[in-house]
Amino acid sequence: MMKDLLQDMHAWMNSYMKSFYSKDAKIQEAILLKEKHTGCVTAISRKLAEHLGLSAHDILLAEMMGLFHDIGRFRQFTLYQTFNDAESEDHAELGIKVLGELSFLQRLSLEDRELLLFAIKNHNKKVIADEADERKILFARLLRDADKLDIYRVLFPYILTSDGQGFSPDFLECFLAGEQCDYARIRTQDDRKLVRLMWVYDVNFSWTLQRICDHGYIEAILACLPQEGPVQLGVQRLRAYVERKCRMEDMLFLTHRHINQEDFEAAEENI
Ligand SMILES: [Fe+2]
Repeated sequence: MMKDLLQDMHAWMNSYMKSFYSKDAKIQEAILLKEKHTGCVTAISRKLAEHLGLSAHDILLAEMMGLFHDIGRFRQFTLYQTFNDAESEDHAELGIKVLGELSFLQRLSLEDRELLLFAIKNHNKKVIADEADERKILFARLLRDADKLDIYRVLFPYILTSDGQGFSPDFLECFLAGEQCDYARIRTQDDRKLVRLMWVYDVNFSWTLQRICDHGYIEAILACLPQEGPVQLGVQRLRAYVERKCRMEDMLFLTHRHINQEDFEAAEENI
């Protein structure tokens, strides 16, 4: 039954995305980009769920989340001709509104529906909302990872060598501290690169980080950073973090919580 529902959802989403096709080359390019991203995130969500050893039911749920996570993007671009949330509206919230109009969502149990909506609502936020339900946190983390892995692919052709403007001090500070920054305050091209690097600290599963590394996404960004100054301290920190996290196993007891420094140490002791 869940399989049939997923099949119906795929069929509906395929024609929904195609309904936004346009003769305007700019709109068409944007819609095709999101159509491809949707397909990739759907496939990655499924693979990650399988890797984590989730149940057959939960693997299908993860696939649904990938399928619908950016549904709001299509209406967003049509209404505002931009994918910039700050200049239009939050595309995850818009997606929740679109999903609310779909009757087939009622074929999911209330619990699964809430899980799906929570993960989608939180896929693009700076941090996942406080939530006591560990299943909701787990699925939100899974979806954020699947989305990030594919966003690195999408952005890969647009990494440029430094234009000499350098970093804004607050962005450099966040990068050195291994924290996330407020994307809306990006001022320079080099800030943008730091944001892509800061995402590494927000990747939840070593499975995802390993794939980000295997594709060469991190090295490509590092190669385009200005080489001088304190940024190199941040690069060293990042490399050490990546190496340690990639060596960790994705055990579910860890995936339910934020993986911090103590978790690393505890996990390393257990190897
Ligand atoms: Fe998104």
